[in-house]
Amino acid sequence: MKGRRDDEEDAATGGDWKSRDSGPVPLPPARRRSRVGITTGTQNRAAIGEGIQAARTPTALTLADVAHECSQLVRQGSSPGPLDEEALLELYLARMGAVLGGRRLVVRISRPGGRVDLVRSTAPLAPERRERQSVTADALRAAGLDDDDAMLAGFGVTDEYRWDFDAASHGFDVALVDGGRLLGVLGVEYHPGVEVPVDDRPLVQIFGAQLSVALGRARIGEEASYLSGYLASLLEDANVPLLVIDRSRRVQVVSRAFLELLGRRRSEVMHADLAELVAPRSRAPLMQGVLHGIREGELTHVDLTLLPPEAEPRDATLDLVSILGPGDQVEALLGIVRDVTALRRLEEQIVQAEKLATLGQLAAGVVHELNNPLTSISVYAERLHDKAQSDPDADPNDVERLGRIVQAAERILRFTGDLITYARPATEAPRALSAAEVVEQALVFCEHVVRDSGAEVEQVFDASRPQVLGVRGQLHQVFINLITNACHAMPQGQGELRLSVEAKNRAVVIRVRDNGPGIPQGQRDAIFEPFFSTKGEGKGTGLGLSIVRNIVQQHGGAIEVESESGRGTTFSVILPAAD
Ligand SMILES: Nc1ncnc2c1ncn2[C@@H]1O[C@H](COP(=O)(O)OP(=O)(O)OP(=O)(O)O)[C@@H](O)[C@H]1O
Ligand SMILES: [Mg+2]
Repeated sequence: MKGRRDDEEDAATGGDWKSRDSGPVPLPPARRRSRVGITTGTQNRAAIGEGIQAARTPTALTLADVAHECSQLVRQGSSPGPLDEEALLELYLARMGAVLGGRRLVVRISRPGGRVDLVRSTAPLAPERRERQSVTADALRAAGLDDDDAMLAGFGVTDEYRWDFDAASHGFDVALVDGGRLLGVLGVEYHPGVEVPVDDRPLVQIFGAQLSVALGRARIGEEASYLSGYLASLLEDANVPLLVIDRSRRVQVVSRAFLELLGRRRSEVMHADLAELVAPRSRAPLMQGVLHGIREGELTHVDLTLLPPEAEPRDATLDLVSILGPGDQVEALLGIVRDVTALRRLEEQIVQAEKLATLGQLAAGVVHELNNPLTSISVYAERLHDKAQSDPDADPNDVERLGRIVQAAERILRFTGDLITYARPATEAPRALSAAEVVEQALVFCEHVVRDSGAEVEQVFDASRPQVLGVRGQLHQVFINLITNACHAMPQGQGELRLSVEAKNRAVVIRVRDNGPGIPQGQRDAIFEPFFSTKGEGKGTGLGLSIVRNIVQQHGGAIEVESESGRGTTFSVILPAAD
């Protein structure tokens, strides 16, 4: 009678089998739901129902029955796709419960790391029994394992079989082993008062072996999918334009750098045909390249034009390397992309820089040759001009003409001097200099220009007289250029020039401020380029600020410009302090 009551109890829990018996499974809800969809479908529910019916009398199975069931399980377990461990376990348990009538089954699975947290049974388990994780020494030995293997998997070892269900008459366990690893333990118990079929243990062991292989396979599948996800995320984060396409050119993996080059979002590119992401004229070569890569499995090179939706077309090269599948056939292609447009731009810059360097050398040579005759012209012209000025009989027109010759010669001399400075590398060693002194000296050299402009000069020097490490002659040039530019910019007779020196942290900031018209925002980078000048033909060469920037950088410093339209400009030269 008691046995009958137990059966009824099992039957009553049948409809709720999964929720009552499921052990704690730490999985995200979305994954759980999908598993439930597979394992509690009508088919499995029917199997569970059958099992509960059959539980009234244990069936004596033949080897042929077991073989048939196993092949059914294999078929179910691998279609439509491989199942994960939990889904597989539920499927197997449902079918085993149906076939092995009269027996109650419990399976405990050990996860990698020795955590036993997946427990499923065909009848309810008391909570304290669910937590029990043990395997008998007999079961271990039958599987060719020892106590250490059990410990590694998180199981304790007992001599006697320990009951999981109430009122069982007989029971044993089977170790689930794959590849020499203990994956879990299957416990089998019989209803009270039933006659245990002869040779039952070996038949249940066959189910156990079958379940072990399936679990092992699912685990490899899970590990492989984890690994491929890990690899994909590595590739995606790579700072190199990379992608993986399948045999039909669909993008499977794409790196962030390649998305930037394409000017598109990941969602637009993933699973898209690569041919649709390139310019129409590149499609045919791309298709041929992909085909060649797949057929020959060789490194294939393709020249492409990419069409970022909101930028200029970009030329790129794509090197395709084949990724082989298990049968040595090409399964996918890894593409390494190189931005040729950026490369070409760099090459152009190098050519331009080389041209400028050659021009600089050439100019320096010419200037050197010109300097001596020019100095004579300048000196003699000045002398003649002085003489004419003091001669009351001299023609005033001639005096003025001589004055112009003097000015023109001076301008040419200044220009040639600038060119030589620009081309010549500095050789003098830097030394500690008072920044204020350098600025004062530069101002003396500029007396002429300052006077011509009629500007007022204010000097604000830090009382600590901070020192900088520099080459005096070069620093003079920096401030002569800045002061001259300021004087040229300020309105005649209304200029206010302010020179300041300030110690700041481990640097010295020297500012040249004027109240001129300011520099338009769009020109603030260009003014430092050689030959950029707004001063008109014959007045400015546009070399001044580029020399200034070169010298400041050679001194390990920086130059900044702030300017407000109509209110003036401040150039700040920041030099490392000498200490
Ligand atoms: N303080 C300033 N205020 C307004 N514009 C300035 C100032 N300093 C420089 N500029 C602008 O920057 C341009 C470049 O200056 P840079 O000193 O390099 O050449 P330049 O003065 O024109 O010629 P030069 O080679 O004779 O110095 C100037 O032509 C001018 O337009
Ligand atoms: Mg200048």
